[in-house]
Amino acid sequence: MRTKIVAGNWKLNNDKEESKKLIKKLKKAIKDTKLKNTRVIVAPTFVNLASSVKAAKKSKIEVVAQNMHQASNGAFTGEVSADMLKAIGVETVILGHSERRTYFNETDAALAEKVTTVLEKGMEAIFCFGELLEDRKSENHFAVVESQLKNGLFHIEAKDWKNIILAYEPVWAIGTGETASPEQAQEMHAFIRGIIEKQYDKKVADKVSILYGGSVKPANAEEIFSKPDVDGGLIGGAALKVEDFTGIINAI
Ligand code: 13P
Repeated sequence: MRTKIVAGNWKLNNDKEESKKLIKKLKKAIKDTKLKNTRVIVAPTFVNLASSVKAAKKSKIEVVAQNMHQASNGAFTGEVSADMLKAIGVETVILGHSERRTYFNETDAALAEKVTTVLEKGMEAIFCFGELLEDRKSENHFAVVESQLKNGLFHIEAKDWKNIILAYEPVWAIGTGETASPEQAQEMHAFIRGIIEKQYDKKVADKVSILYGGSVKPANAEEIFSKPDVDGGLIGGAALKVEDFTGIINAI
Protein backbone atom coordinates (compact mmCIF):
# COMPACT_ATOMS: atom_id res chain seq x y z
CA MET A 1 0.00 0.00 0.00
CA ARG A 2 1.29 3.46 -0.89
CA THR A 3 1.79 6.04 1.83
CA LYS A 4 -0.75 8.88 1.79
CA ILE A 5 0.60 12.34 2.41
CA VAL A 6 -0.92 15.73 3.12
CA ALA A 7 1.76 18.41 2.99
CA GLY A 8 1.37 22.13 3.64
CA ASN A 9 3.75 24.39 1.78
CA TRP A 10 3.65 27.63 3.74
CA LYS A 11 5.73 29.53 1.16
CA LEU A 12 6.67 33.05 2.35
CA ASN A 13 4.12 33.12 5.18
CA ASN A 14 4.10 32.91 8.98
CA ASP A 15 6.72 34.43 11.27
CA LYS A 16 8.23 32.50 14.19
CA GLU A 17 5.29 32.91 16.56
CA GLU A 18 2.69 32.32 13.84
CA SER A 19 4.48 29.16 12.78
CA LYS A 20 4.60 27.80 16.31
CA LYS A 21 0.96 28.72 16.90
CA LEU A 22 -0.20 27.05 13.70
CA ILE A 23 1.70 23.86 14.52
CA LYS A 24 0.33 23.77 18.07
CA LYS A 25 -3.23 24.25 16.80
CA LEU A 26 -2.73 21.56 14.18
CA LYS A 27 -1.24 19.21 16.76
CA LYS A 28 -4.36 19.59 18.87
CA ALA A 29 -6.71 19.30 15.91
CA ILE A 30 -5.27 16.00 14.68
CA LYS A 31 -4.43 14.49 18.07
CA ASP A 32 -7.31 12.05 17.93
CA THR A 33 -7.35 11.58 14.16
CA LYS A 34 -6.45 8.09 13.04
CA LEU A 35 -3.75 8.76 10.49
CA LYS A 36 -3.50 5.24 9.19
CA ASN A 37 -0.74 5.07 6.62
CA THR A 38 -0.88 8.87 6.31
CA ARG A 39 1.87 11.46 6.84
CA VAL A 40 1.15 15.07 7.77
CA ILE A 41 3.85 17.52 6.72
CA VAL A 42 4.36 21.27 7.02
CA ALA A 43 7.03 23.37 5.31
CA PRO A 44 7.79 26.66 7.10
CA THR A 45 10.44 29.14 5.90
CA PHE A 46 14.11 28.44 6.65
CA VAL A 47 14.38 30.77 9.64
CA ASN A 48 11.43 29.13 11.35
CA LEU A 49 12.41 25.53 10.77
CA ALA A 50 14.27 24.95 14.04
CA SER A 51 11.54 26.40 16.23
CA SER A 52 8.89 24.57 14.21
CA VAL A 53 10.70 21.25 14.67
CA LYS A 54 10.62 21.91 18.41
CA ALA A 55 6.93 22.84 18.33
CA ALA A 56 6.08 19.68 16.41
CA LYS A 57 7.93 17.34 18.82
CA LYS A 58 5.85 14.43 20.11
CA SER A 59 3.27 14.88 17.39
CA LYS A 60 2.37 13.36 14.05
CA ILE A 61 3.51 16.50 12.24
CA GLU A 62 6.72 16.41 10.22
CA VAL A 63 8.57 19.65 9.48
CA VAL A 64 10.30 19.91 6.10
CA ALA A 65 12.19 22.60 4.16
CA GLN A 66 10.97 24.43 1.06
CA ASN A 67 14.33 24.33 -0.71
CA MET A 68 18.06 23.72 -0.25
CA HIS A 69 21.29 24.20 -2.16
CA GLN A 70 23.02 21.35 -3.90
CA ALA A 71 26.49 22.15 -2.53
CA SER A 72 27.57 21.07 0.94
CA ASN A 73 29.22 24.41 1.65
CA GLY A 74 31.07 27.25 -0.05
CA ALA A 75 30.57 30.71 -1.48
CA PHE A 76 26.83 30.61 -2.11
CA THR A 77 25.45 33.64 -0.33
CA GLY A 78 21.96 33.25 1.00
CA GLU A 79 21.78 29.48 0.58
CA VAL A 80 21.24 26.58 2.99
CA SER A 81 22.77 23.09 2.75
CA ALA A 82 21.47 19.59 3.38
CA ASP A 83 23.73 19.15 6.43
CA MET A 84 22.45 22.38 7.93
CA LEU A 85 18.90 21.10 7.60
CA LYS A 86 19.76 17.72 9.05
CA ALA A 87 21.51 19.36 11.99
CA ILE A 88 18.22 20.91 13.09
CA GLY A 89 16.19 17.75 12.54
CA VAL A 90 14.87 18.36 9.03
CA GLU A 91 15.12 15.24 6.88
CA THR A 92 12.87 16.11 3.94
CA VAL A 93 12.98 18.97 1.44
CA ILE A 94 10.66 20.28 -1.25
CA LEU A 95 12.54 20.67 -4.55
CA GLY A 96 11.60 22.25 -7.84
CA HIS A 97 8.45 24.09 -6.84
CA SER A 98 7.19 26.05 -9.84
CA GLU A 99 7.71 29.33 -7.95
CA ARG A 100 11.39 28.44 -7.61
CA ARG A 101 11.59 27.43 -11.24
CA THR A 102 9.85 30.61 -12.39
CA TYR A 103 11.05 33.37 -10.03
CA PHE A 104 14.48 31.99 -9.15
CA ASN A 105 15.37 30.41 -12.48
CA GLU A 106 15.84 26.98 -11.00
CA THR A 107 16.73 24.68 -13.87
CA ASP A 108 16.24 20.95 -14.41
CA ALA A 109 20.04 20.59 -14.26
CA ALA A 110 20.29 22.30 -10.86
CA LEU A 111 17.38 20.20 -9.61
CA ALA A 112 19.06 17.01 -10.75
CA GLU A 113 22.09 18.01 -8.64
CA LYS A 114 19.87 18.81 -5.67
CA VAL A 115 18.21 15.42 -5.94
CA THR A 116 21.64 13.75 -5.97
CA THR A 117 22.68 15.66 -2.86
CA VAL A 118 19.45 14.77 -1.05
CA LEU A 119 20.03 11.09 -1.75
CA GLU A 120 23.73 11.20 -0.83
CA LYS A 121 22.76 12.72 2.49
CA GLY A 122 20.12 10.09 3.15
CA MET A 123 17.37 12.69 3.02
CA GLU A 124 14.04 12.64 1.23
CA ALA A 125 12.78 14.94 -1.56
CA ILE A 126 9.31 16.10 -2.44
CA PHE A 127 9.99 16.72 -6.12
CA CYS A 128 7.59 19.20 -7.76
CA PHE A 129 6.85 19.62 -11.43
CA GLY A 130 3.95 20.59 -13.68
CA GLU A 131 3.04 22.31 -16.89
CA LEU A 132 2.20 25.94 -17.63
CA LEU A 133 -1.22 26.95 -18.94
CA GLU A 134 0.16 27.39 -22.46
CA ASP A 135 1.58 23.86 -22.34
CA ARG A 136 -1.84 22.46 -21.55
CA LYS A 137 -3.56 24.65 -24.14
CA SER A 138 -1.15 23.43 -26.79
CA GLU A 139 -1.57 19.86 -25.54
CA ASN A 140 2.06 19.70 -24.62
CA HIS A 141 1.47 18.94 -20.96
CA PHE A 142 2.46 15.27 -21.06
CA ALA A 143 5.69 16.05 -22.92
CA VAL A 144 6.58 18.84 -20.48
CA VAL A 145 5.98 16.67 -17.43
CA GLU A 146 7.93 13.80 -18.95
CA SER A 147 10.91 16.01 -19.67
CA GLN A 148 10.86 17.54 -16.16
CA LEU A 149 10.93 14.06 -14.65
CA LYS A 150 13.57 12.76 -17.04
CA ASN A 151 15.89 15.73 -16.59
CA GLY A 152 15.47 16.14 -12.86
CA LEU A 153 15.05 12.61 -11.59
CA PHE A 154 15.73 9.80 -13.98
CA HIS A 155 19.46 9.75 -13.24
CA ILE A 156 18.73 8.11 -9.89
CA GLU A 157 18.72 4.36 -9.30
CA ALA A 158 15.65 2.24 -8.63
CA LYS A 159 16.63 1.81 -4.98
CA ASP A 160 16.71 5.59 -4.48
CA TRP A 161 12.99 5.99 -5.18
CA LYS A 162 12.13 5.11 -1.60
CA ASN A 163 13.37 8.60 -0.75
CA ILE A 164 11.34 10.39 -3.41
CA ILE A 165 7.82 11.79 -3.19
CA LEU A 166 6.39 13.33 -6.35
CA ALA A 167 4.15 16.39 -6.44
CA TYR A 168 2.35 17.15 -9.67
CA GLU A 169 1.39 20.82 -9.58
CA PRO A 170 -0.02 22.24 -12.80
CA VAL A 171 1.15 25.86 -12.68
CA TRP A 172 -2.21 27.16 -13.92
CA ALA A 173 -3.88 25.71 -10.81
CA ILE A 174 -1.50 27.15 -8.20
CA GLY A 175 -3.03 29.96 -6.17
CA THR A 176 -5.55 30.63 -8.90
CA GLY A 177 -8.58 28.96 -7.37
CA GLU A 178 -8.71 26.85 -10.49
CA THR A 179 -8.16 23.17 -9.73
CA ALA A 180 -7.36 20.42 -12.17
CA SER A 181 -10.45 18.25 -12.33
CA PRO A 182 -10.12 14.94 -10.50
CA GLU A 183 -10.09 13.30 -13.95
CA GLN A 184 -7.28 15.56 -15.18
CA ALA A 185 -5.26 14.82 -12.03
CA GLN A 186 -5.84 11.08 -12.35
CA GLU A 187 -4.96 11.12 -16.05
CA MET A 188 -1.63 12.83 -15.37
CA HIS A 189 -0.79 10.76 -12.30
CA ALA A 190 -1.41 7.54 -14.22
CA PHE A 191 0.79 8.88 -17.04
CA ILE A 192 3.56 9.66 -14.54
CA ARG A 193 3.38 6.18 -13.04
CA GLY A 194 3.52 4.77 -16.54
CA ILE A 195 6.72 6.56 -17.51
CA ILE A 196 8.36 5.57 -14.21
CA GLU A 197 7.43 1.97 -14.91
CA LYS A 198 8.92 2.25 -18.39
CA GLN A 199 12.15 3.77 -17.09
CA TYR A 200 12.48 1.58 -13.98
CA ASP A 201 9.94 -1.13 -13.21
CA LYS A 202 6.42 -1.70 -11.93
CA LYS A 203 7.55 -2.09 -8.34
CA VAL A 204 9.10 1.39 -8.28
CA ALA A 205 6.11 2.92 -10.08
CA ASP A 206 3.58 1.30 -7.76
CA LYS A 207 5.42 2.34 -4.63
CA VAL A 208 6.01 6.06 -5.20
CA SER A 209 3.50 8.48 -3.67
CA ILE A 210 2.30 11.08 -6.16
CA LEU A 211 0.69 14.17 -4.63
CA TYR A 212 -1.51 16.64 -6.43
CA GLY A 213 -1.06 20.37 -5.79
CA GLY A 214 -3.03 23.39 -6.98
CA SER A 215 -5.98 25.02 -5.20
CA VAL A 216 -6.83 21.99 -3.07
CA LYS A 217 -9.44 22.93 -0.46
CA PRO A 218 -11.62 20.98 1.98
CA ALA A 219 -14.45 21.23 -0.55
CA ASN A 220 -12.63 19.50 -3.40
CA ALA A 221 -10.05 17.36 -1.56
CA GLU A 222 -12.16 14.25 -1.13
CA GLU A 223 -12.97 13.91 -4.80
CA ILE A 224 -9.37 14.46 -5.90
CA PHE A 225 -8.01 12.06 -3.26
CA SER A 226 -10.52 9.41 -4.29
CA LYS A 227 -8.65 8.88 -7.56
CA PRO A 228 -6.53 5.73 -7.54
CA ASP A 229 -3.23 7.33 -8.51
CA VAL A 230 -3.57 10.42 -6.31
CA ASP A 231 -1.85 9.70 -2.99
CA GLY A 232 -2.40 13.02 -1.29
CA GLY A 233 -1.84 16.72 -1.76
CA LEU A 234 0.67 19.52 -1.59
CA ILE A 235 -1.35 22.40 -0.22
CA GLY A 236 -0.57 26.12 -0.39
CA GLY A 237 -3.18 28.66 0.71
CA ALA A 238 -5.43 26.20 2.52
CA ALA A 239 -2.51 24.99 4.65
CA LEU A 240 -2.35 28.36 6.40
CA LYS A 241 -5.64 27.89 8.23
CA VAL A 242 -5.81 24.99 10.63
CA GLU A 243 -9.52 24.39 9.96
CA ASP A 244 -8.95 24.10 6.21
CA PHE A 245 -5.82 22.00 6.49
CA THR A 246 -7.52 19.66 8.95
CA GLY A 247 -10.48 19.39 6.61
CA ILE A 248 -8.11 18.30 3.85
CA ILE A 249 -6.37 15.79 6.14
CA ASN A 250 -9.74 14.34 7.05
CA ALA A 251 -10.57 13.96 3.37
CA ILE A 252 -7.74 11.54 2.75
P1 13P B 1 -2.33 26.59 -3.63
O1 13P B 1 -2.90 25.45 -2.83
O2 13P B 1 -2.38 27.90 -2.89
O3 13P B 1 -2.90 26.65 -5.00
O4 13P B 1 -0.76 26.29 -3.81
C1 13P B 1 -0.35 25.03 -4.22
C2 13P B 1 1.11 24.96 -4.08
O5 13P B 1 1.85 25.64 -4.75
C3 13P B 1 1.66 24.03 -3.07
O6 13P B 1 3.03 23.88 -3.23
